[in-house]
Formats: sequence, C-alpha cells, structure tokens
Amino acid sequence: MNRRGFMLGAAGLGAVAAGGALARPGAHGRPYDDYFRRLNEELKKNGPMRPCLLIDLDRLDHNIDQVTASVRAPKHYRIVEKSLPAQGLIDYVARRAGTRRLMSFHQPFINDDAVAFPDADILLGKPLPARSAALFYRDLKGPFDPSRQLQWLSDTPEHLQQYLELAQGQNLRLRINIELDVGLHRGGVRDPAALEPILALIAAHPRQLEFAGFMGYDPHVVAVPKAIASREEMFRRVMAAYQACVDHTRSRYPQLWREDLTLNTAGSPTYRLHEAESLSNDISVGTALLKPTHYDLDTLAAHVPAAYIATPVLKANGPLVLPGLEQGSRILSWWDPNLRETYFIYGGYWMADYESPKGLRFNAAYGHSSNQEIVNASPGVGLQVDDQVFLRPWQSEAVLLEFGDLVAVRDGRIVDYWAPLKA
Ligand SMILES: Cc1ncc(COP(=O)(O)O)c(C=O)c1O
Repeated sequence: MNRRGFMLGAAGLGAVAAGGALARPGAHGRPYDDYFRRLNEELKKNGPMRPCLLIDLDRLDHNIDQVTASVRAPKHYRIVEKSLPAQGLIDYVARRAGTRRLMSFHQPFINDDAVAFPDADILLGKPLPARSAALFYRDLKGPFDPSRQLQWLSDTPEHLQQYLELAQGQNLRLRINIELDVGLHRGGVRDPAALEPILALIAAHPRQLEFAGFMGYDPHVVAVPKAIASREEMFRRVMAAYQACVDHTRSRYPQLWREDLTLNTAGSPTYRLHEAESLSNDISVGTALLKPTHYDLDTLAAHVPAAYIATPVLKANGPLVLPGLEQGSRILSWWDPNLRETYFIYGGYWMADYESPKGLRFNAAYGHSSNQEIVNASPGVGLQVDDQVFLRPWQSEAVLLEFGDLVAVRDGRIVDYWAPLKA
C-alpha cells in the first residue's frame, strides 16, 4: 500500500461524505469485444496462464505491409532490432519485408545476430564504447563477416580514434557510419565543420577504416509543437543538414564516396515523410510494427496495435475494501459503480494501459504491486477468475523483454512462441 495514494482514497471518501457536490460517476465497464473474447478463450485453453506478451501476426502483417509499401527501391527497409527484440519476431519481419538489414544497439545482440542471421547487414544505432566493439570481435562466431556486413557508428574524432586503435591493434578493417545531428540534438555531427576531422581520420587510414555512410535520426520532426515550427519546416531542416554533410563529403573526399553507401534515416514516427525525399536510401522502422500507445501518432494512423499483455485474474473480490476503512469503503463503492468489482491479477505495474475489457482501472489508494495488482471496475466487465485482462504497452523495447517467450497468435489462435533476446 502506498500512503500518499491511500490518503487520496480517503479524501475521496471525504468528498463522498460531503455529498452532492460531485457528479456521481457512471459505470464504465463493458465486456470483451469479439477479438478479445476469442483471445481470452484461447488463452484459458492453451495459454501459459501467467502474464504473457501476445504478438498478433495478422495485425503485424498489416503493419509490415504499410512499411514495405512506403519504403520503395532504391530505398531499403532496415529493422530496428531493439524495438522487436526476439529472433523469431525479427526473422518473421525480415522474411515478410524481404530485408536482411538490421539496426542494432547492444553488443550482446550483435553477437547473437551474427550467429542467428549470418547474412545480415547490421548498422549500429548508437556509438558503442570501443571496448564493446573489442568484446564483439572477441565473442564473434560463425561465418558473419564484419568487414563486409557490419557498420559501427561513430560521432566524434575522439571516439573514432579509439576505434582506429582497436583496428590497428587487432589488424581489423572497420566500416564506419557517421552519426549526424539532423536536429534531435542527441549527439552526432551538426555540420560540415564537425564532420571534417572525422572524414580526415578515415581518409588518412584506409587500411583500418572504411567510410560506410551516415545515420540521421529525426523523430523530433513530429514532436516539436507547431507553434515553434511547422512539421514541413522541421523536415526541411533535417534534410538540409543531411544534404550539407553529403555535399561536403562528395566535394572534399570524393575518394570516400561510393554509390552504395548507407544513407540511413527515419524511425517509426517519420518514415512516411521520407517518401518525399530522394537523398536517403535506408529507412529504419521498428516500433510501428507493434504500435504501442506512445506511437498513436497521426503519421502512423494506418498502423494497428499488434502487441498486448495478457494476464489471468486470480481473485474476484467484489466491492472495493480498503484496509482500515472497511465500513467507509462501502460508501465509496455505493457512490462509484466502478469500484463495485475488485480483481487481483497475476503480476502488474507494467508500462501499459488497460485495454480489455473496457472500464478497468488501477486503484491509487490501494497502490501498485508487481506481484498481484489491484484492478477495479463496474460489474459490466463480466470478468471471472481465470479470465484474462489485456493491456496495451506504452512502448516495446523494454516491455517485450519482461515476459519470457512471446506468444504469437493468428486468427485468435496461438501459433508460435519466440524467446526474447537476452540482454
Ligand atoms: C538511431 C535510431 N534510428 C531509428 C530508431 C527508430 O526506432 P523505432 O522505429 O522503433 O521508433 C531509433 C529509436 O530509438 C533510433 O535510435
């Protein structure tokens, strides 16, 4: 129990006691719709009966097809691995989308990819410490050839100098993609002046370093309020910053320029905007394939939610009873019909919102539990012990790692299990 929340609950009781001043809440509980009713039946019969993460393959297919319809040749689609962190899931997406390009952010994941996807083309999404790169080479197994298939990301001359020393020490040739700051201001080179010393270092060490392209991530374009700058203006600035670095490289280092460089950009929020430009050739998208709530964006209106948490109801206790307020609680649930059912679910306190049945809500007076979370509702939800509560995650990269094997469903049936990546 949480003392502050409890005080709020007690204050609610006071407000009820004061009487009349508040509008009496209506009952919000509704039973499952057909989609969740079928999933509930399937999980009760064949599911793990513990918290699990469902991936709906019909919906995933729809979302993959949105991306492949947008990212057309000569552009290539690159899967953002951290946002879909299970090899079975990545493999599924790669096959349907017809891509072997991955964006990775974590050294242990790259080592695993090298074994699971020996023909992958991997671009790092952040500049890892040089020692992480050394650990990758130490642990590398199988036929994956980093000198052809892997691009390290670098953002400063100092960072690149460390990679150069690694290459010299271990007799390696490293492909280097340069992080551009196209307006997000999360690091990377902002302009040709900052780019110059990095290119100079690469050009001076052709036996150890190979220029592989640029990465310019731009989710801020859809996040900046219109009162500050229009979306069109933000996007224009992104592409102008990118173009300036491309122009500088082509004119000052023509020997480094090749038509098959990786000019990466985008991310889920902005990938559609890049249909309008022809500078980039490599588009990263991950989370949009599952569409958790933080991706309820107008640019992703054509995408559908494809990942849900499902967990069984362990206890159905009827009207809310707060510890120490046994009598007073009755007034609360008399007043508010949404407190007339109290459920305790298996697990809880996830980065997720209640999705189905409609009208479930957390009780702040009682407080959170990761073991058995309280959920209140009006009787209209119709939940019994063993029925499933469905939640929609806020994001995917951390939530998908929390439940053991992901449960793949198609047409309301469990069809596969996919082990999440090990961090
Ligand atoms: C460099 C980079 N590119 C692309 C993405 C897009 O990932 P998603 O499509 O999952 O939002 C991210 C997300 O953090 C990123 O850091």
